[in-house]
Amino acid sequence: MSIAHYYETMEYGPAPEADGEARAWLKRHDATFGHFIAGKFVAPASGKHLTTIEPATGKTLAQIAQGVAADVEAAVGAARSAQSPWAKLGGHGRARHLYALARMLQRHARLFAVLEAIDNGKPIRETRDLDVPLAARHFLYHAGWAQLQEREFADHVPVGVIGQIIPWNFPLLMLAWKIAPALAAGNTVVLKPAEFTSLTALLFAELAAEAGLPAGVLNVVTGDGATGALLVEDPDVDKIAFTGSTEVGRLIRQSTAGSGKSLTLELGGKSPFIVFDDADIDGAVEGVVDAIWFNQGQVCCAGSRLLLQEGIAETFRKRLIRRMETLRVGPPLDKTIDMGAVVAPVQLERIKALVETGVKEGAEKYQASGAIPAEGCFYPPTLLWNVHPSSTVAIEEIFGPVLVAMTFRTPDEAVMLANNTRYGLAASVWSETIGLALDIAPKLQAGVVWVNATNLFDASVGFGGYRESGFGREGGREGLYEYLKPKAWTGRKARAKLPPPSEASTEGAGFGTPSIDRTAKLFVGGKQVRPDGNYSCAVLSPKGKHLGEVGEGNRKDIRNAVAAARSAEAWVRATAHNRAQILYYLAENLSARSDEFARRIGDMTGVSPVKARGEVEASIERLFSYGAWADKYEGTIHAPPLRGVALAMHEPIGVVGVACPDEAPLLGFISLVAPLIAMGNRVVAVPSERHPLAATDFYQVLETSDVPAGVVNIVTGERDSLAKVLAEHDDVDALWVFGSQEASTVAERLSVGNLKRTLVDHGLALDWYDRAASEGPILLRHAVHVKNIWIPYGD
Ligand code: NAI
Repeated sequence: MSIAHYYETMEYGPAPEADGEARAWLKRHDATFGHFIAGKFVAPASGKHLTTIEPATGKTLAQIAQGVAADVEAAVGAARSAQSPWAKLGGHGRARHLYALARMLQRHARLFAVLEAIDNGKPIRETRDLDVPLAARHFLYHAGWAQLQEREFADHVPVGVIGQIIPWNFPLLMLAWKIAPALAAGNTVVLKPAEFTSLTALLFAELAAEAGLPAGVLNVVTGDGATGALLVEDPDVDKIAFTGSTEVGRLIRQSTAGSGKSLTLELGGKSPFIVFDDADIDGAVEGVVDAIWFNQGQVCCAGSRLLLQEGIAETFRKRLIRRMETLRVGPPLDKTIDMGAVVAPVQLERIKALVETGVKEGAEKYQASGAIPAEGCFYPPTLLWNVHPSSTVAIEEIFGPVLVAMTFRTPDEAVMLANNTRYGLAASVWSETIGLALDIAPKLQAGVVWVNATNLFDASVGFGGYRESGFGREGGREGLYEYLKPKAWTGRKARAKLPPPSEASTEGAGFGTPSIDRTAKLFVGGKQVRPDGNYSCAVLSPKGKHLGEVGEGNRKDIRNAVAAARSAEAWVRATAHNRAQILYYLAENLSARSDEFARRIGDMTGVSPVKARGEVEASIERLFSYGAWADKYEGTIHAPPLRGVALAMHEPIGVVGVACPDEAPLLGFISLVAPLIAMGNRVVAVPSERHPLAATDFYQVLETSDVPAGVVNIVTGERDSLAKVLAEHDDVDALWVFGSQEASTVAERLSVGNLKRTLVDHGLALDWYDRAASEGPILLRHAVHVKNIWIPYGD
């Protein structure tokens, strides 16, 4: 027998990780758990438990409490009492606690790794090398933000009590992603883990208390979706942070609409994995293994759509199939296996059904021929070849170890296919030509792009998606902002209703020369156009004097305006210098007509000439300010602990609807539109309903300032009903509503269609003259997506 023969035939022996410590922990609790509230385990109010199983064997693992309203209330109450002392502890005090949590995780790394593998079914190799160290890294990194908070986030305060709902695919890691930034920023938390995988959260809470985390700062309520829904609806929760399915994300968006709760959603994906013909093919094949067979493919950002350039498709298929044959599927605690068990029988059935659908729809199926355990929730690595881009498996998130493959010819076609999804979470680009990779990366509509790599994560690099993948970021500076609110926005009062104009005044009436009828039209695609309905509405002074007419826009006008904004695509590519210049030019042209604008504001609102002049001056200054920010509100470069850098780029969101308030009709309008266009967005604005003439007079300023057609579109009319149309429109990417509580609620509720990002004021008036409250990063943050592009760098 030759050595070569041994190498060829040698089978792996089993190399199981010892599970004694994890089993002993379960036994110590009689494998039955209550909720963890105010620093200790408490029995569930209902006395009811759910059974949680070990996916690899199907055996019962433990009983976890089914949370009901009384449990949620108790947990939220505990979090509320703890919040103010926790915030008052100060950045350094909290930093020490977060550091202690990181160290606690490191000390108990093996226990966490084993318990996670048993409870979830994922391989110990992954829990040991990825889930636990990355979770610890999150606490360490956020200990740093807590330490620096008073300096770096001096103008922000914590949000308050945070409800966090997490899924089962990375139970401990998601816990870390959620609670580390929340606690660092001075909030307290009620966490609802997934019903399939609650054990590491309970262990974490117990050990955190032992490590000195004050009671009530972190509470864990277990249970199923009904418990999650109770947490979402609890009126004393200030924010919900959710990771899970898009379907549940939508429900949560609807039920929090109008409540004033802030919300971040990290939802599903169908991420493209694009391989160009000049890629390192073996490297890319290994990339695919990490992209779709890591964690059994139960990864929201899994590279689940393989897009291959035609010339290499056949070679790639062969090498990939050969590599699939070497993947080992087996018991999670075996250190030599690559893939463990799928989390639960229901998920296994879903995967099987989707693969069957794929085959029925014409895909060729390849499965690794290696043995998989007969018992338990195992599914082999699977490739569906020759998948049509419109087939179910190319569109739906399978959330299992199933890769779908298709081909493309040109880079443009690759981009088109990659973006042909309602999601926008992540993407991988493989090419040895850096120029090509960096040409493609910005064109991909995804929150994260990996160049010649996949599934890289770090606490310093924000993570999150576009469109139906949700909104908000986790990690990085931008992730911390999700758990802070601007000081200048606290203590705002409900906006006073404007008194109706006095009875029609006789001012100006009589037998004199009638004034020339001036009906301002709408401003769409760079032109003044008549409203579709041909109706107009009167604009009156506070004393009831007729000042003019404006067009009454309707659904069709909004549709036209959105289409015009969509086609002004070139604005996205305009240089920041160019955008800055146009903003300064707008200021210059407004300044040249400031007397006229001041008169107009005075007539419409009845303010004194000095105040009216002040509003025009403040508007000019605001345009200058955004001219300044246009080329200065930039991204950053992260240096995560691996061979590479991540470019955190600020990208425009796209087409943004804006409903403007009645107060400060010119300054309010400019304060909302200018930050958006400064960042490369196109806008459909509905100006103040009561005082629209400052915005319609602004048409001429826009026309004379080189603003490209379609970048700013203005539709006058009934603000709240036009805001509703914008909320329902699936080609509007984000919506800002400043005006009324009702419009805010409607905007949040109706934005669920394409899950657009919303920024609403809930009817609370903003002081537009207060720069701290209404100018600069405070709004610019909402005018961009942060897209992280990971690039190999260094050695
Ligand atoms: P899910 O979205 O139902 O569950 C995630 C979390 O939300 C769990 O803690 C669950 O108890 C909770 N939840 C469920 N209904 C709720 C409600 N009405 N209100 C508040 N909380 C609620 O996900 P599920 O059913 O476990 O998985 C189904 C599919 O969702 C998967 O096949 C996959 O496609 C997707 N998914 C995506 C994840 C991601 O990371 N993006 C994670 C988990 C699932």
